Amino acid sequence: MNASITPSITPLVTRPWDGYALLDSGHGRKLEKYGKVTVDRPEPQALWSPTLPQSEWDKAHARFTNTGDEDGDSGKWVLNKDCPESWEVNWEGVKFICRLMSFRHMGLFPEQLTHWNWVSNKIKSADRQLNILNLFAYTGAATLAAAKDGAQVTHLDASKKAIQWGKDNQAASGLTEAPIRWICDDAKAFVAREIRRGRKYDGIILDPPKFGRGPDGERWQIEEDLPDLLANCAALLSDTPSFMILTAYAMRLSSVSLAATLSDVLKDKGGKIDSGELLIEQVNGNRFLSTSLFARWELK
Ligand SMILES: C[S@@+](CC[C@H](N)C(=O)[O-])C[C@H]1O[C@@H](n2cnc3c(N)ncnc32)[C@H](O)[C@@H]1O
Repeated sequence: MNASITPSITPLVTRPWDGYALLDSGHGRKLEKYGKVTVDRPEPQALWSPTLPQSEWDKAHARFTNTGDEDGDSGKWVLNKDCPESWEVNWEGVKFICRLMSFRHMGLFPEQLTHWNWVSNKIKSADRQLNILNLFAYTGAATLAAAKDGAQVTHLDASKKAIQWGKDNQAASGLTEAPIRWICDDAKAFVAREIRRGRKYDGIILDPPKFGRGPDGERWQIEEDLPDLLANCAALLSDTPSFMILTAYAMRLSSVSLAATLSDVLKDKGGKIDSGELLIEQVNGNRFLSTSLFARWELK
């Protein structure tokens, strides 16, 4: 029996929490609070008008100059006042170290929070320790969210720097003893090797970029490589699997096509697939920012 697909677009909404808030958005920018630091940066989707007066935006610690190029990493941070080189954002006792990165990120994607909570519930309600694979795992937010609830996690990313950052987050969170395998490798090559080694996972999380490179320059192009990678991920699922979560952003795909591709590779496993968009709710004013697409499968 194929997984049933919910034919509606599910919005998964990240609401403000003490570590993060979308304070305002508009005129192609967004104003956000990451812990104690407020940043003003480009947001091509914010076509509307801001709610807060300019004087509030001017209070931001840092502003990323607008390059007009959504995917480009040109542009730079301009500091308005003292901004720490790094600082911590707290979520449920997990500490994420944030920094102003040259490509206008902070090392943390807060819209993933709904996935962290969902995975956390899966782990807590399981009658055994779940073994989870996190691919394209960056600085380890989902890895630590899963590890804090007792899962065994394999964290994979092509960037040594991102892996070290993840380890620093692990130490800051007091999770040094948690069973996490940190692996710097190419996602496709690693998954193929894990199949040959006969490894199995109960849950798989993937957040692939549109385009990327493995540590030895291996090319990743989502439209070409995703179907085979997903098929290999399906082959890595244990006999008692729990879930698979796929997120994608900045590309000409829809959440419906993500769901159909996932359904293809999970043929005969039953279960259900939800798909839709990851949204962030703004603090003031009834606005939501769409950040990415997702499709997720669960057995139950
Ligand atoms: C935007 S990040 C994912 C964000 C992460 N899921 C989170 O919530 O923090 C994409 C990651 O994919 C990694 N990457 C790109 N190409 C890769 C490849 N071929 N194999 C493994 N990782 C790759 C990058 O190093 C980057 O850390």
